[in-house]
Amino acid sequence: MPYDPVRPLRGQKALVTGGSSGIGEGIARAFAAAGAAVGVNYHSHPEAAERIVTEIRSSGGEALALKADVANEVEVQAMFAVLLETFGRIDILIANSGIQKDASFPEMSQDQWRRVLDVNLTGQFLCAREAVRRFLTQGIDPSVSRAAGKIICMSSVHEVIPWAGHVNYAASKGGVMMMMKSLAQETAEHGIRVNGIAPGAIRTPINQEAWEMPEAERRLLELIPYGRGGEPEDVANAAVWLASDNADYVVGTTLFIDGGMTLYPGFRDNG
Ligand code: BGC
Repeated sequence: MPYDPVRPLRGQKALVTGGSSGIGEGIARAFAAAGAAVGVNYHSHPEAAERIVTEIRSSGGEALALKADVANEVEVQAMFAVLLETFGRIDILIANSGIQKDASFPEMSQDQWRRVLDVNLTGQFLCAREAVRRFLTQGIDPSVSRAAGKIICMSSVHEVIPWAGHVNYAASKGGVMMMMKSLAQETAEHGIRVNGIAPGAIRTPINQEAWEMPEAERRLLELIPYGRGGEPEDVANAAVWLASDNADYVVGTTLFIDGGMTLYPGFRDNG
């Protein structure tokens, strides 16, 4: 299909995990606007997912709400079955679901450790595995895309920035980075493009507290050379490009969308 600059994902079928809020919601909406049919996965907020689906449909798009705990193999497989039955194929997976369960290290429970690793890392593994299985049987259909399929793993600046008080979260994102690269290396020969996006401080429910208190916000902004917090659209616009054929030669890369947070801003006036 010739590249369409207005609707670069035209005719493609996508699944966005954690699509009912935050960055996932932004991507689901941007993908629909870019012409993709979107499966909006949610875990605990059906009303939020249904609202997004209704809004996408009322502006002429195609969308479907899909409940699943991404950490649960059976639920993930059932979700893919419904999506494939409805859309007929899948071209793009945005493995986005993520949680934080913060605690100082001596206080961190095994449950806090396990749940974060289960959702953030194992959840991406389970969803990516289903997507890859399908991409391999579908193969490349040049009328849809140059690639057999695309996966974007939602990471974080904390795949490289250590984060005290969030050891479980940082460990999960470091894992996402190596999972993404190893998977990209393994599947590229089949025309599958796997990449990551590493957002910085994007205003979403996951970090609401950091923006609510003026003092916390001031301290956070000191970590962002570009001088503003990110919005879900900042990430969503990049995700549209990364999933589109305009990024067809981009394989196994992490795209940082962080206003410069990974540039060691502490060195601006020191060192
Ligand atoms: C975290 C946010 C945090 C940001 C920058 C993200 O991955 O989920 O809570 O504000 O990284 O530290």
